[in-house]
Amino acid sequence: MNITIVGVGYVGLVSGACFAEFGHNVICVDIDEHKINRLKDGIMPIYEPGLDHIVGQHSLSGRLTFTTDLARSVKGRDAVFIAVGTPPRPQDGHADLSFVYAAAKSIAESMDQFTVVVTKSTVPVGANREVARILGQYAPAGQQWAVASNPEFLREGAAISDFMEPDRVVIGCDNAQGIAIMERIYAPLAARNTPIMTTDIETAELIKYAANAFLAVKVSFINEVSDLCERVGGRVEEIAKGIGLDRRIGGSFLRTGPGWGGSCFPKDTRAMLMTAQDAGVPLSIVAAAVGANEQRKRDMADRIVEACGGSVNGKVIGVLGLTFKGQTDDMRESPSLDILKGLIAAGARVRAFDPSNPHEAAHLLPDVELVKTPEEAADGADALVVLTEWMVFKSYDLGELARVMRQRIMIDLRNLFDEATARESGFTTYHCLGQRSAVPKLAQVS
Ligand code: UDX
Repeated sequence: MNITIVGVGYVGLVSGACFAEFGHNVICVDIDEHKINRLKDGIMPIYEPGLDHIVGQHSLSGRLTFTTDLARSVKGRDAVFIAVGTPPRPQDGHADLSFVYAAAKSIAESMDQFTVVVTKSTVPVGANREVARILGQYAPAGQQWAVASNPEFLREGAAISDFMEPDRVVIGCDNAQGIAIMERIYAPLAARNTPIMTTDIETAELIKYAANAFLAVKVSFINEVSDLCERVGGRVEEIAKGIGLDRRIGGSFLRTGPGWGGSCFPKDTRAMLMTAQDAGVPLSIVAAAVGANEQRKRDMADRIVEACGGSVNGKVIGVLGLTFKGQTDDMRESPSLDILKGLIAAGARVRAFDPSNPHEAAHLLPDVELVKTPEEAADGADALVVLTEWMVFKSYDLGELARVMRQRIMIDLRNLFDEATARESGFTTYHCLGQRSAVPKLAQVS
């Protein structure tokens, strides 16, 4: 099939590369000329394991091309995917759909055969109907088209395998010719028995929001159980395992941590709450998870203060990990932002190391000293805080880090290590989440 992807961000680039891997001819188009030129030179705009390999391979095979010329890229295509950003509008939290609608208009003006216009960007209920209205308004008279909602469920750091081996593909479309094209696009997955669900448009739009909100609720739930364990006993990891083995619950997304972040959960839960509010329907469970997550980040800063003896004023806090989760360079809505700002407001000096060297960290955390090695983060520190579950941290020589610290306190907010390992490495105190030895709540940072 001939496919065009509009918007070469995270979702667009991964989708385009994987469609080329399926055997389709893919054009990726973006208005950012610098990004397109770099991609033509094989330089990835994002960090995603395996992506450079697939992009390189299919740039060579000729099945994957990059351009800034949207009008030409839309001609002769079976499907055009819209994968532009839908950031929250600062004034009201609603998803900003102006990029989606602008793309729809440009596509409409250049279509020259039956084309399915597919929204991959996460959009609230009703957005695809608006895309259809725009196509109707701007497409040449007599031009045939269909609209489809095809949400993505990619996790950063695992996006290629999530795309190539998804749990399901959701296609929201009510046009038979459009559905047939979408089914041909995903035929390689259907051949491997991936469930391909065809629904109406609104259902597909809501599946995406409901999935992310449910997962966010799940993480917030285990974080609260984790707090409970710290007061009444019990170990959160074993509880997560014990409940996760019940197939009705499932074991994933039950890792306690400093709160959820990233480009999707915070944005999508907010957007879903706005939709519900506009519709006059209370989504009290999602609202509670959002509130609990905000509180969680404040609690984590308090916890670090308590582990440091009730004050961090004038103390040096070494930090391992800044990104919202491991194996990504993404800082968007990372819990580290709120937690570290809280520590700085309480008088701490913060020195942080992240293996991905996230380029946004310097302007998002201007008061944090960013260092290039874990040893530099630990050097002279009064406490070492683990904020992100980078796998590479497990290979560090903790003894080396403890040796250069002023006070050998570790606060592990991802439960990456354990008490015995920390103590053997020379740490005098090890704090983690969800078991009784963890520091009880006391002081407030702010
Ligand atoms: C998420 C969804 O998983 C994906 O389907 C959707 O398309 C985009 O949003 P992503 O943002 O990459 O993907 O992150 P994810 O791996 O889902 O983690 C989200 C947040 O929850 C992270 O901050 C992570 O650290 C946290 N988390 C996740 C936990 O604290 N515990 C868990 O058990 C799982």
